[in-house]
Amino acid sequence: MAGGFLAAATQCFPRRGGTETAKVVPLVEDDWILLRTVRLQALRQDPDAFGSTLQRELQFDEQKWRSRLVTSRWFAVFEGEAPCGIVACMPEEGANVVQVLALWVAPQYRGRGVVDELIQAVVASGRRSGIKRLLIWVMEDNGRAKQFYDRLRFRPTGRRSSLDRDPARMALEMALEF
Ligand SMILES: CC(C)(COP(=O)(O)OP(=O)(O)OC[C@H]1O[C@@H](n2cnc3c(N)ncnc32)[C@H](O)[C@@H]1OP(=O)(O)O)[C@@H](O)C(=O)NCCC(=O)NCCS
Repeated sequence: MAGGFLAAATQCFPRRGGTETAKVVPLVEDDWILLRTVRLQALRQDPDAFGSTLQRELQFDEQKWRSRLVTSRWFAVFEGEAPCGIVACMPEEGANVVQVLALWVAPQYRGRGVVDELIQAVVASGRRSGIKRLLIWVMEDNGRAKQFYDRLRFRPTGRRSSLDRDPARMALEMALEF
């Protein structure tokens, strides 16, 4: 993992002095059970953080989980043998922009820099593909996630959108240029 490229890719945000043991792995289609396990755990643990719901994704079959791994690039972070977080990135066609989706770290690993490792992987992967901008949607009432994106120097783009399943709740778009 050492090397000038990765170091340069992460100079765009101040990283938390974190874990030296977390290992980020890109997921492939055959990792669909791992993805399903961690994603359902995320939806169960933090139902208010995401646009989707546990009830919805419990209905997904193997083909659907596999196709998610094909249409977006997913990373999992491991501490030892256990996956403790995930993130997805979906390129926007022709725009040098990636949407960051489904970011989640298990509660016992929060505040330890594990999430920085995930974002580092997204940035490094984006740079290899000529990406210049990350976009995320975050619920306005998700103080912890907003604080995290703020530390990474994501900035609001000004776009806001109501949540389909609860129009009283608003999400705001934030962007990181690099
Ligand atoms: C969002 C998430 C990935 C961030 O990872 P993390 O390890 O918690 O992030 P960090 O601890 O590095 O940063 C969180 C910041 O929020 C602060 N914070 C903690 N609780 C908070 C709260 N209730 N309100 C506001 N800020 C809070 C922390 O002090 C920290 O700020 P600092 O860096 O200035 O000290 C993780 O919290 C998570 O998985 N949350 C649930 C799912 C989620 O919200 N995903 C994002 C969807 S857009």
